[in-house]
Amino acid sequence: MEEIKLVFQLDEIEEAVAQFLDFSSGNKKFAFYGEMGAGKTTFITALCAALGTDDLVSSPTFAIINEYADADGEPIFHFDFYRIKEASELLDIGFYDYCEQDAFCFIEWPEKAEGLIPEDFMKVSIDVDDDNSRVISFWL
Ligand SMILES: Nc1ncnc2c1ncn2[C@@H]1O[C@H](COP(=O)(O)OP(=O)(O)OP(=O)(O)O)[C@@H](O)[C@H]1O
Ligand SMILES: [Mg+2]
Repeated sequence: MEEIKLVFQLDEIEEAVAQFLDFSSGNKKFAFYGEMGAGKTTFITALCAALGTDDLVSSPTFAIINEYADADGEPIFHFDFYRIKEASELLDIGFYDYCEQDAFCFIEWPEKAEGLIPEDFMKVSIDVDDDNSRVISFWL
């Protein structure tokens, strides 16, 4: 395995998203690890834009799951597990049913459901760098 790192400023995010989708070709399930304000929602929003969604993508702060449609009308699922307290909540929202669909699934705060996320999710870390740029890293 090798670690891939993408470093970018906010005005370079489209290029970073294009590279990310190139590297991870085929995979549609991603868990985004990173502290508060790291840029998870911002990156997922840019991913959704690259996939052709014209819905307004916002942080699902109060919703655990938000659903958007890509350019072909296919669903994209965006989860925010920040407020998840117990495993039963994942079942309640039908998380595993969404996972089984052939659809993009993006998770913020997978830390809150550690051990409960299917293994086919690619683990992606987002970190803030010295100059306020962001570093996206994952293993291939
Ligand atoms: N690549 C980047 N370069 C510079 N600033 C960025 C970048 N990505 C995001 N930001 C800024 O960081 C702030 C927080 O971003 P965002 O809401 O995406 O974080 P988050 O990881 O989703 O946080 P939370 O854990 O609260 O959901 C925003 O003001 C955003 O503009
Ligand atoms: Mg967020």
